[in-house]
Amino acid sequence: VDNGLARTPQMGWNSWNHFGCDINETVIRSTVDALVSSGLTSAGYKYVNLDDCWADNQRTKEGYMAANPEKFPSGIKALADYVHSKGLKLGLYSSAGTRTCSNRMPGSLGHEDTDAKTFASWGVDYLKYDNCYRDDSNELVRFPRMSHALRNSGRPIFYSLCEWGYMDVATWGGSYGNSWRTTGDINDTWTSILNNIDQNDAYAKYAKPGGWNDPDMLEVGNGGLTHDEYIVHFSLWAIAKAPLIIGCDVTGISKETLGILSNPEVIAINQDRFGIQGRRVRKYDDEIEVWAGRLSGHRKAVLLLNRGATSRRSITATWADVGLRRGLAAEARDVWKHETLPGRFAGRLTAEVGPHSCKLFILTPVGR
Ligand code: GLA
Repeated sequence: VDNGLARTPQMGWNSWNHFGCDINETVIRSTVDALVSSGLTSAGYKYVNLDDCWADNQRTKEGYMAANPEKFPSGIKALADYVHSKGLKLGLYSSAGTRTCSNRMPGSLGHEDTDAKTFASWGVDYLKYDNCYRDDSNELVRFPRMSHALRNSGRPIFYSLCEWGYMDVATWGGSYGNSWRTTGDINDTWTSILNNIDQNDAYAKYAKPGGWNDPDMLEVGNGGLTHDEYIVHFSLWAIAKAPLIIGCDVTGISKETLGILSNPEVIAINQDRFGIQGRRVRKYDDEIEVWAGRLSGHRKAVLLLNRGATSRRSITATWADVGLRRGLAAEARDVWKHETLPGRFAGRLTAEVGPHSCKLFILTPVGR
């Protein structure tokens, strides 16, 4: 939607994947501090988003949503001020239904204008809008309502639709929102991550500056996957121009996790100004795939993916598959190794890839 936001996929942090409902102002403030001190903020992660369970169980007598007084005794406005003082932005969560998915707080159905104005008055910068406890009306009725309310709120507020891909949301999400979930909920397993990105791939053509397909938030750092598998997860999200929303506990984040989440060359692929979603361009068999996407400066991002659990495989990306002219010579930069491969490549690039692993390259044509 044309609200000036999301020129590149949003980057930030969200409480749900790690903390679930166990959030409070201490958790959020230490998260803010850790995002800044770890360098993640400078790497681009700007939104700090509260997910479900931030609000009081019921509306006030006057009909307003209010922060849960035990969890957020200082209120959301004070939290927003703190977040803003550190150069970050604050996100909240609600639902296009009478309650949110946890059933621990009210949803915004029928209160769209009031809630949007309340959020704006607190200095909120982002709204994730879920789809639980809905009435009989469909998503195309309920989700645009909040879009209008946010646009009338007097504050630019990023609008993240979370209706799990219903009604082919990718085909209309961009008219109302800045991103839209194309899938059900992710979890911290290899299968879930691949399922979500596969499902998301079908909608590649709808992503563009202003609005992005959302295969759900990152699980990197939550402990269920190996280091190589998390590199696959992050590489796929990067090349697919997915929102990069960290979902782990960043206070006391490990060096390995930080190394993945703050790799500047991988982030640059995700944040490329052309905003073209990379896609699966070749499937050799059940294990071996090539993903590719156009970048600015005549470059291509190329991902060689081994989904198999056991064998090391040799994987080839042909120029035809990645969209380079036959005969064109290119340099290949391995963005995980931070290394430009020796020599030039013409027609194809081949590399060995271990089980549940990938290689991610940027191809830059030389001597065009
Ligand atoms: C839904 C959403 C999740 C999360 C939970 C919170 O399942 O899809 O991302 O927000 O609700 O209850």
